Amino acid sequence: MPDHLALRPVTEADLDAFDSAFQSESGATPHQWFGFTPNIALREALRTRGLLAGADNMLSVTVDGELAGRVEWLERRWGRRDTSLCWEIAVGLLPDWRGRGVGTRAQRELVRYLFTHTRVERVQATTDPENTAEIRCLEKIGFRLEGVVRRAQWRGGRWHDQLLFSILRDEFGLASG
Ligand SMILES: CC(C)(COP(=O)(O)OP(=O)(O)OC[C@H]1O[C@@H](n2cnc3c(N)ncnc32)[C@H](O)[C@@H]1OP(=O)(O)O)[C@@H](O)C(=O)NCCC(=O)NCCS
Repeated sequence: MPDHLALRPVTEADLDAFDSAFQSESGATPHQWFGFTPNIALREALRTRGLLAGADNMLSVTVDGELAGRVEWLERRWGRRDTSLCWEIAVGLLPDWRGRGVGTRAQRELVRYLFTHTRVERVQATTDPENTAEIRCLEKIGFRLEGVVRRAQWRGGRWHDQLLFSILRDEFGLASG
C-alpha cells in the first residue's frame, strides 16, 4: 500500500484541528453529535499527561505524515479494576479522510497497540446500529457483535440503541496484518 498510516501522540495543533472539525453536527456526523463539548479537559490532559496513561487516552492518526483523525481508548470495568478492566475504543476521522479505508486501518493499529502494550484480554467498541461504516470497520478487524444495549444513548432529541462489539486477545492475534 503506497500510503503509510501511523498513530502518534496528540499535539496542541491536532486538538485545534479536532475542535474545528468536530464541533458541529455536519463535522461530527449525526451519529456523534451530542451538542457542543467543552474542550478544556482534553487540553489539560494533554498538558499534564500527553493524553496517555489514564482512564481516557488518545492518539492522532496520520497518513503519510498528514493528520487524518484520532483514536481513543477508555477504561471500562466489568468487575474490579485490578482484575476486570478492558478498553473501549473510539475513532473520529477528519471529514476529508472518511470513506478511504483509514478508519479500518487506524482501529486495527489501535487494537494491535493495546494488546501489545497493555495486558487486557478484551477490547470493546460500541456504535449506532445505523453507523454502517463503523460496523463494517469493526467486522473487518474481527470484532464480534455481543448484543444490543437498548436505548442507551440520548442524542438528537431521542434515545438510541447501541451495538456492543468486542475482540479478544487470541482472536486478534498480534501477527494479524
Ligand atoms: C466511522 C469511520 C471511523 C469509518 O472509517 P472510514 O475510513 O470512513 O471507513 P472505511 O473507508 O474504512 O470503510 C469501512 C467500510 O464501511 C463502508 N463505508 C464507508 N463509508 C460508508 C458510508 N458513509 N455508508 C455506508 N458504508 C460506508 C466501506 O465501504 C467499507 O466497507 P466494505 O469494506 O464492506 O466496502 C469514519 O467514517 C468516521 O470517523 N466517521 C465519523 C465519526 C464516527 O462515526 N466514529 C465512529 C463512532 S462509533
